[in-house]
Amino acid sequence: MPAHPDQTATPITSSSDKGGRVTSARIVLTGATGATGNAVAHALVTRGDADLAAVVAPSVASTPTRPLPTGVPAFATLEDALAAVGSPAVVVDFTHAEPALAHLQLALDAGVPVVLGATGLDEADLERFGELFAAAGLGLLQVPNFSLGAVLLMRVAAELATYFPDVEIVETHHDGKRDSPSGTAVLAARRIAESRRAAGVEPGAGAGSAGVGAGRGTVIDGVPVHALRLPGATAHQEVVFGAPGELVTLRHDAIDRSCYAAGVARAVAAVGGLRGRVVGLDAVL
Ligand SMILES: NC(=O)c1ccc[n+]([C@@H]2O[C@H](COP(=O)([O-])OP(=O)(O)OC[C@H]3O[C@@H](n4cnc5c(N)ncnc54)[C@H](OP(=O)(O)O)[C@@H]3O)[C@@H](O)[C@H]2O)c1
Repeated sequence: MPAHPDQTATPITSSSDKGGRVTSARIVLTGATGATGNAVAHALVTRGDADLAAVVAPSVASTPTRPLPTGVPAFATLEDALAAVGSPAVVVDFTHAEPALAHLQLALDAGVPVVLGATGLDEADLERFGELFAAAGLGLLQVPNFSLGAVLLMRVAAELATYFPDVEIVETHHDGKRDSPSGTAVLAARRIAESRRAAGVEPGAGAGSAGVGAGRGTVIDGVPVHALRLPGATAHQEVVFGAPGELVTLRHDAIDRSCYAAGVARAVAAVGGLRGRVVGLDAVL
């Protein structure tokens, strides 16, 4: 679908009150039949403060994998949804790495900003699209975790990291999750590392033994990260700091995927004001 000049020029007006309620931007949600996208679609309708204009999933062409919210137009392709919804709109993507890449290109061609919830995309692809979105005057808000609790945990972890050099992350997800470690754990590790660098704090000695022996995890920016994949789990993360005589454990549990809807609504409200790639919900809170 070709870009219309008014689509790149039209600002998306949104507002947010203290309770995080947002208004305006018309959402086109891809991956709407998936475990996450489906829960978010239903929760957005229940919240009633965001305009879910269309939902998209390939199985809409036959039998949707999961029941979709009633009264919301459903499409098998993003191209069809964008053509029907028109401008202004925001694409919210909860598919997987490969379809998400195709959706980034479609949104770019249509002059529509994107809130990217899918994880596992290559960093090089994300950087390239970030530059293309910036050149088009569009926002690409990449959010590895929409949970307000998980995002605020990262802020607290970044603060603790300036006092406690020794820290490791343990993330646990359902056994169907394809990528590891999780995007959230990678982002938490990077935030901790940035915070340490800013404070001139060197990683603790424990990090040096990670990745060497079995069971010592993957080192991300000097922070060992351990990934568990188990049936029964949803999305869980522990950030554990250690110092002589004490441990500090920050823990977050996403018990139901509806918890992501509040963060999605805030991201949608913010992305119209962004240009190029911005990573993390905390950047717009
Ligand atoms: N950012 C966050 O806070 C957050 C939280 C949780 C998960 N995630 C991420 O969200 C993504 C989805 O996770 P999930 O567990 O919900 O996955 P899922 O249950 O497998 O759902 C995938 C969705 O993508 C659709 N899809 C699959 N292939 C497609 C294609 N080629 N073109 C268009 N749509 C396609 C599926 O449609 P059909 O059902 O019609 O096949 C389905 O709606 C993952 O990357 C996950 O890591 C992000």
